[in-house]
Amino acid sequence: MSEQAKILIIDDENTICKACSLILAEQGHSVTSRTSGRAGLRDALAGGYDIVLLDMRLPDMDGMEILAELRSKKPEIQIIVMTGYSSVENAVDAMKTGAFDYLAKPFSDDDIILTVSKAFETKRLRDENMLLRSQLFERFDFNNIVGEDPAVLDVFARIKRVAPTDSTVLITGESGTGKELFAGAIHVHSKRSEQRYVTLDCSTLSDNLLESELFGHVKGAFTGAINDKQGIFSIVNHGTLFLDELSNLTLEIQSKLLRVMESREYKPVGGSSTLKTDVRIIAATNRDLSELVADGSFREDLYYRLNVFPIHIPALRERKEDIPRLAYHFLRLFCRQTGKKIEGFSDDALAALIGHPWPGNVRQLKNTVERLVIMADNTFLDSESLATHIHSDDPSLSSSRASVPETLDDLKTFKKDLLENTFGLVEKRFLLKALDDCRGNITHAATKVGMQRSNFSALMKKHGISTDTK
Ligand SMILES: Nc1ncnc2c1ncn2[C@@H]1O[C@H](COP(=O)(O)OP(=O)(O)OP(=O)(O)O)[C@@H](O)[C@H]1O
Ligand SMILES: [Mg+2]
Repeated sequence: MSEQAKILIIDDENTICKACSLILAEQGHSVTSRTSGRAGLRDALAGGYDIVLLDMRLPDMDGMEILAELRSKKPEIQIIVMTGYSSVENAVDAMKTGAFDYLAKPFSDDDIILTVSKAFETKRLRDENMLLRSQLFERFDFNNIVGEDPAVLDVFARIKRVAPTDSTVLITGESGTGKELFAGAIHVHSKRSEQRYVTLDCSTLSDNLLESELFGHVKGAFTGAINDKQGIFSIVNHGTLFLDELSNLTLEIQSKLLRVMESREYKPVGGSSTLKTDVRIIAATNRDLSELVADGSFREDLYYRLNVFPIHIPALRERKEDIPRLAYHFLRLFCRQTGKKIEGFSDDALAALIGHPWPGNVRQLKNTVERLVIMADNTFLDSESLATHIHSDDPSLSSSRASVPETLDDLKTFKKDLLENTFGLVEKRFLLKALDDCRGNITHAATKVGMQRSNFSALMKKHGISTDTK
């Protein structure tokens, strides 16, 4: 064993303490021993032990009592009880009370080495699992999901309502809107949160692989199937399966999926026996499934089956109110990660962020802020530092064919977007600058730029600018 365990031996026979200490220390463990029950219990409660070897017959205290107390106060400790060979019943009771295993005296060196190593390995796996689970909980905790725009509050409300049920959920939304994040939130707030949560990205696997991934296969089912393989429906049993980008499923897999959802039964690829499964499905897609149903590439019955509880996550440009919040959330995150100290965004930088259409949604905003933080030399991010970063990964502005309108209608939409997003931004900055130059005095600002006061303030209203919040 590579790592050492911290072990406490509680036994009134000094010879046993010494012998066990010697054997276990030789294995690289750190061992302490106590010859009285009370001193042992006190130590076990105070020190960070991994394993306690506990004699059941002690002069000052009953071993069972110590066991019960440790189980309730220090459940993370693995307890191995030591019993005289004549008291098997005692050992059975101890196991029932939560001992990891027992050693019947007299035991050999190998017995104790093996039992301790099993206990330690189990504890390490358990600790690791708990760590993973707490990371999952942390990542998908509502506190780490930013959003106060009414559209997002509605998403939160729907998620809280559906999470504790076993309902299938279909999450839709453009790429980068947070579908994966919300799917995880549903799982950690569900009754299944202690069970497994597995994500399967349906767009990355070939059809054959996807099928055996989902349902498993039996040995010899196809060339290369040299062993039986467990499918996700068996691995995730009692847990939650997140099927990401499921619009890519072939009609054949769609029908198999429908069958599992309806009957909770499936057959592994090449197998003849039917297996049972209890898996909650959360599906996500950035396509419009009803369109796919209309053109025949998605089964209508599966669509209805998935669409029991639809949740649509709005695009970021439809919840602009959240852009400053998200920007600051990511700013703090990346400052923590990089150790940089950046206080915030200048008003015009925030205005630019708010005015941007964000075709890549929250993910794009997050990436942009990350780049800004990495490149920043100042304690404030202004629109100048933003200018070079905000457009570089914007697909709508790249020279791809998609950005060239093909019909007059497209051209009009393009022009409208451009006016709203790009010109609108310039207009807003123009107002802000004039106000800034005139210390917020609207009459002076209007005169300075050559506008009537009433027109100037109407424009301010259009952009949601007021002189005290500017
Ligand atoms: N409301 C939010 N608060 C904080 N972070 C968010 C929020 N929404 C999305 N994110 C972050 O943005 C990134 C993209 O989110 P996510 O991967 O969930 O999007 P998606 O909808 O699954 O995208 P795709 O369709 O491309 O798979 C992630 O890093 C996620 O943590
Ligand atoms: Mg995703």
